[in-house]
Amino acid sequence: MAFFGSLFDSGNDPLRRLLLAVMPKTKIAQWMGKNAQPYKELMAYYKCAMMAIETKFRVINEELSLKYDRNPIESIRSRLKSPESLWEKMNRRRLPFTTESIEKNIFDIAGVRVICSHTSDIYALSESLLKQDDVTLFEKKDYIANPKSNGYRSLHLIIETPIFLYETKKMMKVEVQFRTISMDWWASLEHKIRYKKNIPEELSHTVHRQLLECAETGAQLDAKMEQIQKMVAPYTDTE
Ligand code: GTP
Ligand code: MG
Repeated sequence: MAFFGSLFDSGNDPLRRLLLAVMPKTKIAQWMGKNAQPYKELMAYYKCAMMAIETKFRVINEELSLKYDRNPIESIRSRLKSPESLWEKMNRRRLPFTTESIEKNIFDIAGVRVICSHTSDIYALSESLLKQDDVTLFEKKDYIANPKSNGYRSLHLIIETPIFLYETKKMMKVEVQFRTISMDWWASLEHKIRYKKNIPEELSHTVHRQLLECAETGAQLDAKMEQIQKMVAPYTDTE
Protein backbone atom coordinates (compact mmCIF):
# COMPACT_ATOMS: atom_id res chain seq x y z
CA MET A 1 0.00 0.00 0.00
CA ALA A 2 1.84 3.08 -1.23
CA PHE A 3 -0.29 5.57 0.68
CA PHE A 4 0.17 3.63 3.87
CA GLY A 5 3.94 3.50 3.44
CA SER A 6 4.13 7.21 2.74
CA LEU A 7 2.34 7.99 6.00
CA PHE A 8 5.07 6.26 7.93
CA ASP A 9 7.75 8.12 6.10
CA SER A 10 6.00 11.45 6.31
CA GLY A 11 8.12 13.13 8.96
CA ASN A 12 6.29 15.18 11.50
CA ASP A 13 2.62 14.13 11.44
CA PRO A 14 1.57 14.63 15.11
CA LEU A 15 -0.79 11.64 15.06
CA ARG A 16 2.02 9.43 13.78
CA ARG A 17 4.41 10.74 16.46
CA LEU A 18 1.85 10.08 19.16
CA LEU A 19 1.06 6.58 17.99
CA LEU A 20 4.74 5.76 17.75
CA ALA A 21 5.12 6.81 21.39
CA VAL A 22 2.33 4.65 22.75
CA MET A 23 1.83 1.64 20.48
CA PRO A 24 4.02 -1.10 19.06
CA LYS A 25 4.88 -0.56 15.39
CA THR A 26 2.81 -3.47 14.10
CA LYS A 27 -0.28 -2.18 15.89
CA ILE A 28 0.28 1.30 14.47
CA ALA A 29 0.58 -0.20 11.04
CA GLN A 30 -2.80 -1.90 11.50
CA TRP A 31 -4.43 1.22 12.93
CA MET A 32 -3.06 3.57 10.29
CA GLY A 33 -4.05 1.15 7.53
CA LYS A 34 -7.64 1.22 8.67
CA ASN A 35 -8.04 4.72 10.06
CA ALA A 36 -5.56 7.35 8.87
CA GLN A 37 -7.60 8.63 5.94
CA PRO A 38 -11.00 8.56 7.73
CA TYR A 39 -9.37 10.27 10.75
CA LYS A 40 -7.99 13.08 8.60
CA GLU A 41 -11.36 13.46 6.88
CA LEU A 42 -13.22 13.60 10.18
CA MET A 43 -10.84 16.24 11.55
CA ALA A 44 -11.30 18.28 8.35
CA TYR A 45 -15.09 18.17 8.85
CA TYR A 46 -14.72 19.37 12.45
CA LYS A 47 -12.46 22.16 11.25
CA CYS A 48 -15.11 23.27 8.72
CA ALA A 49 -17.84 23.29 11.40
CA MET A 50 -15.58 25.23 13.76
CA MET A 51 -14.87 27.86 11.09
CA ALA A 52 -18.59 28.14 10.27
CA ILE A 53 -19.49 28.80 13.92
CA GLU A 54 -16.66 31.28 14.34
CA THR A 55 -17.91 33.13 11.25
CA LYS A 56 -21.42 33.31 12.71
CA PHE A 57 -20.04 35.17 15.73
CA ARG A 58 -17.98 37.51 13.55
CA VAL A 59 -21.13 38.33 11.54
CA ILE A 60 -23.17 39.13 14.67
CA ASN A 61 -20.34 41.24 16.08
CA GLU A 62 -20.03 43.18 12.82
CA GLU A 63 -23.75 43.85 12.69
CA LEU A 64 -23.93 45.05 16.32
CA SER A 65 -20.88 47.19 15.91
CA LEU A 66 -22.45 48.92 12.88
CA LYS A 67 -25.92 49.31 14.39
CA TYR A 68 -25.12 50.14 17.99
CA ASP A 69 -21.44 51.02 17.97
CA ARG A 70 -20.93 48.16 20.40
CA ASN A 71 -18.79 45.05 20.12
CA PRO A 72 -20.03 42.43 22.58
CA ILE A 73 -17.17 40.13 21.56
CA GLU A 74 -13.69 40.92 22.83
CA SER A 75 -12.04 37.99 21.04
CA ILE A 76 -12.66 34.52 19.59
CA ARG A 77 -10.30 31.59 19.79
CA SER A 78 -10.86 28.28 18.04
CA ARG A 79 -8.99 25.04 18.33
CA LEU A 80 -9.19 21.43 17.14
CA LYS A 81 -8.50 18.88 19.86
CA SER A 82 -4.94 17.61 19.50
CA PRO A 83 -4.38 13.89 18.80
CA GLU A 84 -2.59 13.65 22.19
CA SER A 85 -5.52 15.05 24.12
CA LEU A 86 -8.00 12.99 22.11
CA TRP A 87 -6.00 9.83 22.73
CA GLU A 88 -5.86 10.60 26.47
CA LYS A 89 -9.64 11.18 26.66
CA MET A 90 -10.48 8.01 24.70
CA ASN A 91 -8.19 5.98 26.97
CA ARG A 92 -9.60 7.57 30.12
CA ARG A 93 -13.11 6.65 29.03
CA ARG A 94 -11.98 3.25 27.80
CA LEU A 95 -13.38 3.92 24.33
CA PRO A 96 -12.10 2.17 21.21
CA PHE A 97 -9.91 4.48 19.11
CA THR A 98 -11.97 4.44 15.93
CA THR A 99 -13.39 7.34 13.95
CA GLU A 100 -16.95 6.08 14.59
CA SER A 101 -16.34 6.02 18.32
CA ILE A 102 -14.69 9.49 18.26
CA GLU A 103 -17.69 10.96 16.45
CA LYS A 104 -20.21 9.25 18.70
CA ASN A 105 -18.60 9.97 22.06
CA ILE A 106 -16.36 13.03 21.97
CA PHE A 107 -18.12 16.37 21.63
CA ASP A 108 -15.28 18.82 22.07
CA ILE A 109 -13.12 18.03 19.04
CA ALA A 110 -14.06 21.41 17.57
CA GLY A 111 -13.94 24.15 20.18
CA VAL A 112 -14.81 27.83 19.85
CA ARG A 113 -14.17 30.14 22.81
CA VAL A 114 -15.97 33.47 22.71
CA ILE A 115 -14.71 36.11 25.11
CA CYS A 116 -17.40 38.69 25.78
CA SER A 117 -17.44 42.15 27.33
CA HIS A 118 -20.21 41.48 29.86
CA THR A 119 -22.11 38.53 31.31
CA SER A 120 -25.33 39.76 29.69
CA ASP A 121 -23.54 39.64 26.29
CA ILE A 122 -22.85 35.94 26.90
CA TYR A 123 -26.56 35.15 27.28
CA ALA A 124 -27.59 37.45 24.42
CA LEU A 125 -25.02 35.93 22.05
CA SER A 126 -25.80 32.35 23.01
CA GLU A 127 -29.53 32.97 22.44
CA SER A 128 -28.84 34.62 19.12
CA LEU A 129 -26.71 31.64 18.04
CA LEU A 130 -29.34 29.10 19.09
CA LYS A 131 -32.05 30.98 17.16
CA GLN A 132 -30.23 30.38 13.88
CA ASP A 133 -31.91 27.81 11.59
CA ASP A 134 -28.85 25.62 11.22
CA VAL A 135 -27.86 25.44 14.88
CA THR A 136 -29.33 22.90 17.31
CA LEU A 137 -28.56 22.69 21.00
CA PHE A 138 -27.25 19.29 22.10
CA GLU A 139 -26.09 20.09 25.66
CA LYS A 140 -25.80 23.16 27.88
CA LYS A 141 -23.77 23.64 31.07
CA ASP A 142 -24.24 26.99 32.74
CA TYR A 143 -21.28 27.40 35.08
CA ILE A 144 -22.12 31.10 35.43
CA ALA A 145 -25.49 30.50 37.09
CA ASN A 146 -23.95 27.46 38.83
CA PRO A 147 -20.18 27.94 39.21
CA LYS A 148 -18.04 24.85 39.81
CA SER A 149 -16.90 24.30 43.41
CA ASN A 150 -13.45 25.71 42.54
CA GLY A 151 -15.04 28.93 41.24
CA TYR A 152 -14.88 28.15 37.49
CA ARG A 153 -17.37 30.20 35.49
CA SER A 154 -18.28 29.89 31.82
CA LEU A 155 -21.29 28.99 29.68
CA HIS A 156 -20.70 25.80 27.70
CA LEU A 157 -22.86 24.77 24.77
CA ILE A 158 -22.48 21.72 22.60
CA ILE A 159 -24.27 22.50 19.38
CA GLU A 160 -24.88 20.66 16.15
CA THR A 161 -24.51 22.36 12.81
CA PRO A 162 -24.42 21.07 9.23
CA ILE A 163 -21.47 21.31 6.91
CA PHE A 164 -22.25 21.11 3.22
CA LEU A 165 -19.91 18.80 1.36
CA TYR A 166 -19.63 18.24 -2.37
CA GLU A 167 -22.40 15.66 -2.43
CA THR A 168 -23.85 15.46 1.06
CA LYS A 169 -24.61 17.34 4.23
CA LYS A 170 -23.05 16.24 7.50
CA MET A 171 -24.09 17.23 11.01
CA MET A 172 -21.14 18.11 13.26
CA LYS A 173 -20.86 18.91 16.96
CA VAL A 174 -18.99 21.99 18.17
CA GLU A 175 -18.31 23.00 21.78
CA VAL A 176 -18.77 26.73 22.37
CA GLN A 177 -17.47 28.25 25.60
CA PHE A 178 -18.58 31.77 26.47
CA ARG A 179 -16.61 33.72 29.07
CA THR A 180 -16.02 37.31 30.12
CA ILE A 181 -12.42 38.52 30.14
CA SER A 182 -12.24 38.00 33.90
CA MET A 183 -13.66 34.43 33.68
CA ASP A 184 -11.13 33.64 30.96
CA TRP A 185 -8.21 35.17 32.84
CA TRP A 186 -9.11 33.15 35.94
CA ALA A 187 -9.56 29.87 34.02
CA SER A 188 -6.30 30.27 32.20
CA LEU A 189 -4.26 30.93 35.37
CA GLU A 190 -6.09 28.27 37.39
CA HIS A 191 -5.31 25.75 34.65
CA LYS A 192 -1.58 26.59 34.85
CA ILE A 193 -1.55 26.41 38.66
CA ARG A 194 -3.45 23.08 38.70
CA TYR A 195 -0.72 21.49 36.63
CA LYS A 196 1.99 22.39 39.16
CA LYS A 197 2.34 18.81 40.31
CA ASN A 198 4.10 18.87 43.66
CA ILE A 199 1.97 21.22 45.75
CA PRO A 200 1.85 19.74 49.30
CA GLU A 201 -1.54 18.69 50.66
CA GLU A 202 -1.79 21.43 53.34
CA LEU A 203 -0.90 24.17 50.81
CA SER A 204 -3.34 22.85 48.22
CA HIS A 205 -6.29 23.74 50.51
CA THR A 206 -5.04 27.30 50.80
CA VAL A 207 -4.50 27.52 47.04
CA HIS A 208 -8.01 26.17 46.43
CA ARG A 209 -9.57 28.71 48.83
CA GLN A 210 -7.61 31.64 47.43
CA LEU A 211 -8.43 30.71 43.85
CA LEU A 212 -12.08 30.56 44.83
CA GLU A 213 -11.78 34.04 46.35
CA CYS A 214 -10.20 35.32 43.12
CA ALA A 215 -13.08 33.83 41.10
CA GLU A 216 -15.61 35.54 43.34
CA THR A 217 -13.78 38.87 43.15
CA GLY A 218 -13.76 38.47 39.37
CA ALA A 219 -17.53 37.93 39.36
CA GLN A 220 -18.03 41.05 41.49
CA LEU A 221 -15.88 43.10 39.12
CA ASP A 222 -17.88 41.78 36.15
CA ALA A 223 -21.11 42.83 37.88
CA LYS A 224 -19.72 46.29 38.67
CA MET A 225 -18.42 46.85 35.12
CA GLU A 226 -21.81 45.86 33.76
CA GLN A 227 -23.53 48.36 36.07
CA ILE A 228 -21.22 51.11 34.81
CA GLN A 229 -21.87 50.10 31.20
CA LYS A 230 -25.65 50.29 31.80
CA MET A 231 -25.26 53.70 33.41
CA VAL A 232 -23.54 55.17 30.36
CA ALA A 233 -25.53 53.21 27.73
CA PRO A 234 -28.19 55.96 27.22
CA TYR A 235 -25.42 58.38 26.24
CA THR A 236 -23.96 56.17 23.50
CA ASP A 237 -23.41 58.03 20.26
CA THR A 238 -24.91 55.89 17.46
CA GLU A 239 -24.21 58.37 14.63
P1 GTP B 1 -14.24 16.83 29.66
O1 GTP B 1 -14.86 17.36 28.38
O2 GTP B 1 -13.78 15.44 29.57
O3 GTP B 1 -13.20 17.78 30.20
O4 GTP B 1 -15.40 16.71 30.74
P2 GTP B 1 -16.77 17.50 30.81
O5 GTP B 1 -17.48 17.42 29.50
O6 GTP B 1 -17.50 17.04 32.01
O7 GTP B 1 -16.22 18.94 31.06
P3 GTP B 1 -16.91 20.35 31.07
O8 GTP B 1 -17.91 20.52 29.97
O9 GTP B 1 -17.34 20.65 32.46
O10 GTP B 1 -15.62 21.23 30.75
C1 GTP B 1 -14.92 21.08 29.57
C2 GTP B 1 -13.88 22.19 29.38
O11 GTP B 1 -14.16 23.35 30.18
C3 GTP B 1 -12.49 21.81 29.80
O12 GTP B 1 -11.82 21.16 28.76
C4 GTP B 1 -11.87 23.19 30.11
O13 GTP B 1 -11.57 23.89 28.90
C5 GTP B 1 -13.01 23.92 30.74
N1 GTP B 1 -13.08 23.72 32.21
C6 GTP B 1 -14.00 23.00 32.89
N2 GTP B 1 -13.79 23.05 34.20
C7 GTP B 1 -12.69 23.82 34.38
C8 GTP B 1 -11.96 24.25 35.55
O14 GTP B 1 -12.27 23.91 36.68
N3 GTP B 1 -10.86 25.05 35.33
C9 GTP B 1 -10.49 25.44 34.09
N4 GTP B 1 -9.42 26.22 33.99
N5 GTP B 1 -11.15 25.05 32.98
C10 GTP B 1 -12.23 24.26 33.12
MG1 MG C 1 -16.77 18.25 27.67
